[in-house]
Amino acid sequence: MTFDSLPDTLRWENNRFFIIDQTVLPENFIEIELQTRDEIYAAIRHLKVRGAPAIGIAGAYGLCVCAQAHIDKPYSAFVSEVQQDAHYLSSARPTAVNLCWAIKRMIRKIHSSRSKDTAKVYESMVNEASKIHKEDLALCEAIGRHGKNLITKGCGILTHCNAGSLAASKLGTATAPMYMAAAEGVSFRVYTDETRPLCQGSRLTAWELQRAGLDVTLICDDMAASTMSKGLINLVIVGTDRVAANGDVANKIGTLGVAIMAKFYGIPFYVACPSTTFDPATETGKDIVIEQREASEVCHFGDKRTAPENIKVLNPAFDITPKELVTGIITEKGIIMPPYDKNLKQLGVK
Ligand code: MRU
Repeated sequence: MTFDSLPDTLRWENNRFFIIDQTVLPENFIEIELQTRDEIYAAIRHLKVRGAPAIGIAGAYGLCVCAQAHIDKPYSAFVSEVQQDAHYLSSARPTAVNLCWAIKRMIRKIHSSRSKDTAKVYESMVNEASKIHKEDLALCEAIGRHGKNLITKGCGILTHCNAGSLAASKLGTATAPMYMAAAEGVSFRVYTDETRPLCQGSRLTAWELQRAGLDVTLICDDMAASTMSKGLINLVIVGTDRVAANGDVANKIGTLGVAIMAKFYGIPFYVACPSTTFDPATETGKDIVIEQREASEVCHFGDKRTAPENIKVLNPAFDITPKELVTGIITEKGIIMPPYDKNLKQLGVK
């Protein structure tokens, strides 16, 4: 396989910002342009662009689009308006640390700019956003290099949600070891959980892995245990939205169940992420804010209502997998093994 065929989930060209609209995949593969602060906020909030690294990059480019609207204002008004936009965009989704991380980095860039010429400050913002994007590309490649040896000929890998090209840059995070192993001619099978309620596994992971020519099988979330019990899964690799200082990880709802099942069947459970997803300021998983989403996502399958009117619904978008269930964390610096509190610090990860 060649990596060139992998989709570019975000694109900045001639001061214009484009994303692949992930809400209409796999039926429609279209790019849309985001031109206003509200469009950017809504695209992140409604998962047109999603996945921890991708929403970080979207926040950075998005802030550049916001800055365009203030470029003719005096410097202090420009900075104050962009700061308000930054605050607003950061609030679009709470769990993935990458969004706030990237936006904070953009604000630091504005303050470190020696020029008070708003056009020059804007230029430095665009450079910084594109640097964040390019860095993510390299981080994903390094994750792939460190993780690919976990994948052996004939093995079966389970993944959950989408931590692929669509969620990051090119190789993705959980998919990077898969793409690299495939490029080296290793043959293996991937099983992707459907990932209710929004079906990122079936709509996105199944689409992108199939498109890349990998051997991928879709299963419903409730088939994971029986698939493991039949010996079809030898390895689990998932992404994450935030890793706490002690090694607890937040990821798409259902990841905790997969980790518990993997433990039961003695299957290694790896989490793949760049160091931009580590949050040393958050001590444990209990301190991670879990996004609660609309009941309608659970009460419907697509446009069809699948639950009675007025039913009480729980819809947390993420869950916390305790560090004890995580075999290792595949990062750009290598695979970090327990004890995570000590080893994350030692590796100088963020
Ligand atoms: O709600 P989503 O689709 O943004 O959730 C995404 C995930 O849970 C991913 O696994 C995570 O962000 C890692 S993406 C490389």
